Amino acid sequence: MNKLTIRDIDVGSKRVLVRADFNVPLDGETGAITDDSRIQATLPTINYLIDRGARVILCSHLGRPKGKVVEKLRLAIVAQRLSQILGHSVEVAPDSIGAEVEKAVAKLKPGDVLLLENIRFHPEEEANDASFAQALARLADIYVNDAFGASHRAHASVVGVANYLPAVAGLLVEKEIKVLGSILANPRHPFAELAGGAKVSDKLSVLENTMDKVDCLLIGGSMAATFLKAKSYQVGMSLVENDKIELAAKLMKKEAQQGVRLMLPVDVVVAAEVSAESKAEVVSVGEIPPDWRIVDIGPQTITNFSEELQRCKTIFWNGPMGVYEIAQFAQGTQAMARLLAGLEATTIIGGGSTAEAVTEMKLADKMTFVSTGGGASLRFLGGKTLPGVEALLNRKK
Ligand code: 3PG
Repeated sequence: MNKLTIRDIDVGSKRVLVRADFNVPLDGETGAITDDSRIQATLPTINYLIDRGARVILCSHLGRPKGKVVEKLRLAIVAQRLSQILGHSVEVAPDSIGAEVEKAVAKLKPGDVLLLENIRFHPEEEANDASFAQALARLADIYVNDAFGASHRAHASVVGVANYLPAVAGLLVEKEIKVLGSILANPRHPFAELAGGAKVSDKLSVLENTMDKVDCLLIGGSMAATFLKAKSYQVGMSLVENDKIELAAKLMKKEAQQGVRLMLPVDVVVAAEVSAESKAEVVSVGEIPPDWRIVDIGPQTITNFSEELQRCKTIFWNGPMGVYEIAQFAQGTQAMARLLAGLEATTIIGGGSTAEAVTEMKLADKMTFVSTGGGASLRFLGGKTLPGVEALLNRKK
């Protein structure tokens, strides 16, 4: 990475503002954190700073409160979990900017940790407002971006603040860029990309950008319907992006020309409705009933995909194979997760729902790397720059 990191500067006794991505999933009923991977992933940076006597000021968003205070999106629950796993008390500031916050910062001693309140309670955050960014910058001597998952957002705490403070990368951002960058630069072959999820449009730039690097591309999930449609299959009520059919066809043609082995489902699980109570059946892709929809890949497809993936040395997986939140449509996603967990290959899991599925199955530590970024990893692997990384200081050549 051509950006400076916390290892390149003196952080001792300094007030260090760390933008983290503590946007963790919460239980809809209890409000409890259901997956703390993003908090865990920031520990190396926080510990590095504590060990060197920095005064650590953490800042993050949680959910999408749209510029207003939303009680259930307060960060106290994150502070609680963070202090448990850190073994160190973490205070929560009453707000993210202002006189009270400045007072709390002034009280920090070397090694102390303060968490600012949800930064998105202020509409100026998403608007990348300059005076809001300046108010944040006043709290600190150094800015660290460790929020890989939010680095595709040109917001005040991700980009704006870097205009007013020496700005460097945290250890998580450094690692994400290194690992994800290595699959683009130097994958071990055969290299397979396993793509799924709902929409082709989300994945299109990644598929295009990795086309000349992969040896095989396996497509499952709801997005397979658009590819099947492009091959003239009838896909019933499955979600099809009609404006992407032509692109899917072009992509398949290009992949074939480049010698990429493209695999689509040969059988699928279909259901009358996307609900736990719905009747479901396995059918071949040529026999999808007109009023049913694809909700998972079928057993023969699982076998075909497994055989292909077993001979690969690098696998990048992004997007579940079906509606994995509903147990009866989760078989394909679970089979792929179990398979990848047992392989010797380099296995890299894109963030978002794929990471959640793998974590839920307690298989995350069996993978080579699980990204903390959903949209951010797609953008990066789609060959685009991340504004939150671009804003950091360059390493001198
Ligand atoms: C994510 O969950 O992908 C990041 O935290 C970014 O959240 P956002 O999509 O609400 O900006």
